[in-house]
Amino acid sequence: MKVLGIESSCDETGVAVYDSSAPAGKGLLAHALYSQVELHAEYGGVVPELASRDHVRKLLPLVRQTLAEAALLLDDLDGVAYTAGPGLVGALLVGAGAARALAWSLDVPAIGVHHMEGHLLAPLLEPDPPQPPFVALLVSGGHSQLIAVEGIGRYQLLGETLDDAAGEAFDKTAKLMGLPYPGGPHLAKLAEQGRSGVFTFSRPMTDRPGLDFSFSGLKTQVLLAWQDSDQSEQTRADIARGFEEAVVDTLAIKCRRALEAAGMTTLIVSGGVGANRRLRAQLAAMAEKDGLKVSFPRLEFCTDNGAMIAFAGALRLAAGQHSDAAIHVQPRWDMATLPAV
Ligand code: KG4
Ligand code: ZN
Repeated sequence: MKVLGIESSCDETGVAVYDSSAPAGKGLLAHALYSQVELHAEYGGVVPELASRDHVRKLLPLVRQTLAEAALLLDDLDGVAYTAGPGLVGALLVGAGAARALAWSLDVPAIGVHHMEGHLLAPLLEPDPPQPPFVALLVSGGHSQLIAVEGIGRYQLLGETLDDAAGEAFDKTAKLMGLPYPGGPHLAKLAEQGRSGVFTFSRPMTDRPGLDFSFSGLKTQVLLAWQDSDQSEQTRADIARGFEEAVVDTLAIKCRRALEAAGMTTLIVSGGVGANRRLRAQLAAMAEKDGLKVSFPRLEFCTDNGAMIAFAGALRLAAGQHSDAAIHVQPRWDMATLPAV
């Protein structure tokens, strides 16, 4: 079945069409993304009301563009999937309202997708996709979680952050060193020019058992190092490098522990921080060394996008699941409450 996917939970409008009857890795017929980054940059963060209004402006043109790229008409759609949460309530309502209206007018089923399930399943969009069971490392701007995945919709939380998410830590650390919004990618780029070992920060919560994370102390360590330094360009890059190495090491240590705890040998990584090159390289090296398998989404599907929503929605719609016609969103939503597919 051909499913239109709509993502509007935060500051990207994403639209895609996924065909669940195509062979694995071939179902994505078209996708388009409009990022609001420039709109929010002058405020140093996402302004929810501006985000909602911009989704209103961009969503329908993006739907038309995506259908044209897929050479499809609205009537060719068999279902509609939209992000129903977690996220900004106003932004979510724009996508949910449009998706519901479309589905009603076309007389096809619609389903509200959990944004983090979308991220989690994004590596499965690639050719030769990994099959459950596997451990998922979900690292985005709002979440840092390790999840044991027994099957689609069968998610057991193994560990999560006690304070800042990994992406949030990147963003806040970048901001305190004066880097522009959004900080994560800027900090990662700067770290490439930094020297390893000039600044060393702790690997939080790796000295004791457990699979939870804590990143907020790291941010404070960086603040103190930055304030005590000459604040030169090279120092900023060296600190960025030390910070990135600390986060990546910490994530890698916990991933290995999670695989051991769950008795699994496949790791999948997703969410915006999954685009981090050092993280990808280090986890790939760990997998190679220990005979494990690790999968990532392609870079553009690590951050928010419509393809992951079309895909997750198509899996559920093809299994006969759908939600009722009410326009209902959940700014907070526990993934463990999702039904199995
Ligand atoms: O998944 P995502 O697009 O949105 C959420 O659902 O939160 O993740 C965005 C997060 C931001 O915190 C951003 O700074 C971070 O992912 N991010 C990165 C990189 N690219 C995006 N963090 C580190 N390195 C990157 N290359
Ligand atoms: Zn996201």
